[in-house]
Order: sequence, then structure tokens, then C-alpha cells
Amino acid sequence: MIPPKPVPRPDRVSLLRYLRLFRDDILSAQPARLYRAWMAEFRTPFFRSYLLNQPALIETVLKERPEDFPKSDRVGEGLRPLLGNSVFLTNGETWKRQRRIIDPAFEGGRLRDTFPAIWAAGEAAVARMPDGILDVEPEMSHAAADVIFRTLFSLPIENEIAARVFAEFREYQRTQPILNAAAFLSLPRWMPRGHRARTRATARSIRALITQLTAARMAEIEAGTAPDDLATKIMTTADPLTGETFSTEEMVDQVAIFFLAGHETSASALGWALCLLAMYPDWQERLAGEAEMLDGPDFSVMSRLKLSRDVFREALRLYPPVPMMVRETTCPERFRDRDIRVGSQLVISPWHLHRHNRIWDNPDGFDPARWQTENGRRCMREAYIPFSAGARVCTGAGFAMVEGPLLLSMLVRAFRFERVAGRDPVPVAYLTVRARDGIVLRVTRR
Ligand code: HEM
Repeated sequence: MIPPKPVPRPDRVSLLRYLRLFRDDILSAQPARLYRAWMAEFRTPFFRSYLLNQPALIETVLKERPEDFPKSDRVGEGLRPLLGNSVFLTNGETWKRQRRIIDPAFEGGRLRDTFPAIWAAGEAAVARMPDGILDVEPEMSHAAADVIFRTLFSLPIENEIAARVFAEFREYQRTQPILNAAAFLSLPRWMPRGHRARTRATARSIRALITQLTAARMAEIEAGTAPDDLATKIMTTADPLTGETFSTEEMVDQVAIFFLAGHETSASALGWALCLLAMYPDWQERLAGEAEMLDGPDFSVMSRLKLSRDVFREALRLYPPVPMMVRETTCPERFRDRDIRVGSQLVISPWHLHRHNRIWDNPDGFDPARWQTENGRRCMREAYIPFSAGARVCTGAGFAMVEGPLLLSMLVRAFRFERVAGRDPVPVAYLTVRARDGIVLRVTRR
């Protein structure tokens, strides 16, 4: 038995069929050979893009020369109405300035302060989880959204505005499959795409709600009554180079991306981790045993939840929530003896790299013990990028590696998760890697 994997398409298909497959799901639109290739070129009448699947090439793009490979504008197109000038979409000097202000809020010491809010969200998720046969994905989205609101604004998801933002986001994702083929494949500008009116309206309404929260916080900061959470920290941090702080408008852009990047991704990883634990009950029992040590919001427990961390890592390997990332070339490049023109799209696919047949032992298998082996340790350094790598690495990586293992431990301590015959999920890539018909499990309180 191997964990669910989409069936790849045949090696040769027409462009039209490729685009159709792509619209349905970018994972099953790809041929099986990408799990063995070091690089692949996609040539069509309209565009050329390259999938880079060799650790050394990925290192060049993400770590050695990130400034030569900015984020492609086209990927941001679908997101701009919602995210404005958020750190996720900007490049160059603007991006650097934003990271200088945001990064201190996510540093190690700060995670310790944030821990009690994550713990409280975990307790609320355990209290909310129903018994019976159910789709755990929405439960995990709810939990991860709660984590973000509690850590950012000291508000539980039951707060009226938080609940509305969460509901509107769900609507937004329904109207806007964000990794759409047009953006990804760099279709020519004349081809119709546009943001549907509904998507734009939802984006506006989400931004209006976030503006209310941010403006209220600005007032509290000025009055000296603001709680000491991530929002206050970010809004009071001055750029060490210019002394400037974020304006309310710019903070709204950042809050939108923290919410989007921080809850969809963690929810996806937690959903898949529960699915894997249901498929491998022996691991689940070991985790439940380890979780006995949980005893109140004490940050030091994180260094002892080793099995949970290894399981969560393995879930991020097999189902990287961000399956692919796109960059653009700004100068002529030569990769693997091929000349690559300026303006080419470079696709880096954690999905394929994490299952690369020539790099990983047992690439499609679930084996959390691999991280203690020599192959596992080498792969972790060279071929494991669930949070990307280099200068643009996920700001929330450390945060997510606390949230994920902690919530997983709290959940398996309280519940048993089992497979439901005939309902094994099929992974598809929407905004993040999700299950086509949800992750349906039998949940029983222990
Ligand atoms: C399991 C959870 C998570 C995963 C797998 C994940 C993954 C990623 C990846 C792959 C990127 C790079 C995307 C690209 O370059 O195109 C990214 C960027 C980012 N993530 Fe995360 N993320 C997670 C959780 C979070 C959390 C909890 C937060 C914040 C609270 C967050 C905030 C961000 C931000 C702000 C960026 C943009 C960084 C930049 O471009 O400079 N993420 N994330």
C-alpha cells in the first residue's frame, strides 16, 4: 500500500488536451517521467517553461542568485485583487523592506511568546471536532484559521469579524482557482482570463474586514492598550534602514497574505497527516503514546515531540501544500546545456522533487523514520523544500513546524482516526494540495 498519488498522464498528449488536463488539476496533467527527470522543457506555440528538478539548479535559483530570478508577475495576477502589494507578490527593494519589518515577528524567541495562543487554538479544535464519519479538511481549515487569528490579533475564530473573514475566504477560493493555467503557463496577454466580477467583489469585502481589524489595532497601539501579539509586533517594528513602519494600507496587504499563506497551507498539511495516520495505525498509536507528555502550554515540549515532528515532515514531503513555485529569468541562462531565454518561466516543483526516484529511497512510501537515516538526512538538506529555500523562504516556516506537530499530537491524543473503505482521497492541486472529495475518515473520541 502506498499513500494516494495522482495517476500521471501519458507521455504524449496534444496541447489542447494538456491545457484541459491542466485546468482540472496540475498534478495529474504532468507525465510520469518528471519523477525521474533533472529538467524538462515545455514547448508550445505560446510559451516556453522549464521544470527544474535537480537540487543544484534549484539551489542556483532559490539560494545563490535569487535576485536574478524574481517571482513571475503572472503567478500573482490571480491574487493581486486580494493581496495588493503583499510580501508574497513583491520583488526587489519593496520586498526587501517588507521582509526587514516582518521577519523579526517570526524569530525563534517570538515563537515562544506565540505558543500559548497556538495551544489554545489546539484545545479549541479538539473540543470542536465531532465524532463519526466526516471530512477532516474543513475541520483543519477551521483550526488553522483560528491559529492565525489568535496569534496575529489575539482573537478566536468565533469573533464576528474573524468568522466573516474565514467564510469569505472560502467563497474566494471557490470563485478563483488561484494556480490557474493562464498564470502558470504564461499564456499570451491577449487570451481572456481576467478576474471574474464575483472574485473581485469577494476580495474587496475581505479587505474591508481586515482593514477594520488593522485600523482598530492602530488606534489601540496609539492609545497604548494593544495586546502583545504578532500584529502589534509587526505594526510597531520600524525598518532598521529607513525608520519607517507599515502604513495601515500596507499592513492590510500583509495581513491578507498571513491569513492566506498561513491557514490554507497548514490546514492542507494537517489534513494529509491525519489521512496518513489513518492509513498507518501503528504510527498513530506511537504518536498517541508520545502525546501523553502534553501537559499545558509549555514551549519546551516541542523539542520532545519528535515522532510527531517526523510524521508532519513526512506529510509535507508527500503532500507539499505549495506543490509548485514559478520564477522568471531576467538574463540569458544556460542550464544543463540548454540556452534559456530571458523571460522564460521556471517551475520548481516540491511535489516532484520530494518524490524524485533518483534521489529518495522509497520515494512514494510513508516512512517517518527515514529522517533518521543517511539518505533521509541528505535528502532533507538537498531535496526537501516544502517551505521553499533561500532569501524568499516562507516567513512562517518555524511557526508552522510548531503548529503542525503540536496540533497533530493534541488531535491523536484525543481521537482515533480510521480509513473509511472506498473513500481514500485523491490529491489535486488547487491553491494548495487538497483532496478531490475531501479527506473522509472515521473519527472516534478515545
Ligand atoms: C505548513 C505550512 C506552510 C507551508 C508548507 C508554507 C509554504 C510556503 C512556500 C513554499 C512559500 C514560498 C512560495 C513561493 O516562493 O512562491 C511560502 C511563502 C510565504 N509564507 Fe508560508 N507556508 C506555510 C505556513 C505559513 C505561515 C503559518 C505563515 C505566516 C503566518 C506563512 C507566511 C508566508 C509568507 C508571508 C510568504 C512569502 C514570503 C516571501 O515571498 O518573501 N506561511 N510559504
